[in-house]
Amino acid sequence: MKVTFFGVQPYDREAFDRAGAAYGFEICYHRSHLNAQNVALASGADAVCIFVNDTADAETIRQLAEMGVKLIALRCAGFNNVDLTAAVRYGVSVVRVPAYSPHAVAEHAVALMLSLNRKIHRAYWRTRDGNFSLHGLLGFDMYGKTAGIVGTGRIARELIRILKGFGMEVLANDPHPDERFAWEAGISYVALDELYERSDVISLHCPLTDGTRYMIGDVAIGRMKPGVMIINTGRGQLIHTEALIDGLKEKKIGAAGLDVYEEEAAYFYEDTSDRIMDDDVLARLLSFNNVIVTSHQAFFTREALDNIAHVTLQNMLEFDAGKKLTNIVCPDPVAGMA
Ligand code: NAI
Repeated sequence: MKVTFFGVQPYDREAFDRAGAAYGFEICYHRSHLNAQNVALASGADAVCIFVNDTADAETIRQLAEMGVKLIALRCAGFNNVDLTAAVRYGVSVVRVPAYSPHAVAEHAVALMLSLNRKIHRAYWRTRDGNFSLHGLLGFDMYGKTAGIVGTGRIARELIRILKGFGMEVLANDPHPDERFAWEAGISYVALDELYERSDVISLHCPLTDGTRYMIGDVAIGRMKPGVMIINTGRGQLIHTEALIDGLKEKKIGAAGLDVYEEEAAYFYEDTSDRIMDDDVLARLLSFNNVIVTSHQAFFTREALDNIAHVTLQNMLEFDAGKKLTNIVCPDPVAGMA
């Protein structure tokens, strides 16, 4: 089977080369992101392998199908960048890696929380400059505070375990509450409004769907506690960034840790340090001393990269052998998965 990879970074290639020898696929790696303009790079391939910032919209999938591509293998969990309805229409199967390391993402969310709370990002620069003052670095005890967790899937459950370890009260919201998990973990499911109103730290772990897009906007922020910390390791479009910026300027939001950004595709994973930034919204975000932006790196651990490579290759192997696809992704008519 011939597979064309898009959006490949050197570390992806290393992980796939390490894991791939046993599978015998003919792999062609491309650095550029898949989109309707460069889809011809997949010519002759049976499958394409893509990541979070590749675009498999209806037009791209139509062209892929026309050139004989039958499988889109996502080497990530989220699939908001694939038009699943179009994939069904053109007979292209979609598979993903449902969980490569929930620990990696949960631990990164905690890293953002602690860095923002204890101002580690500011202390790092201060002490290097010989400034040992504590002025402006005051944090709060995590112990006894309330965390609001939106979505209680694999990643959120790891995060909840860690936050309970700090002695935090955890409120959660999920359209499919798991009461047994809640009882075992010692958390409570509450309505979203109550979660917004009572939480000191809010962390987003639900998928991006038509229903969750821009869930954190003016109205939601208006309900939150003054000084709330918002953490987003989910998807950029869960937050309306301009509303977030307004909340930060009004000092309603005390801190924001963002591993994802709604327009991240133009910047994330690239070194743009020698260019002038065109994106005024991102530039404004980066100007706040109580905002940390990381470049969609929450997944980025050695263990996760190896898992991604193994599960992706296994997904392709199942497809090649005509077997039932363990990690197939189908359109969800209820959620309206974008
Ligand atoms: P999961 O599928 O295990 O859990 C998602 C949970 O969200 C489910 O319990 C589901 O019922 C819930 N949910 C669905 N709609 C909701 C809504 N409207 N409100 C509240 N909850 C809702 O997913 P997992 O593995 O925990 O990943 C969560 C998200 O994290 C992914 O969708 C992906 O976008 C993001 N992610 C980010 C990574 C990063 O590197 N920053 C890496 C991996 C995933």
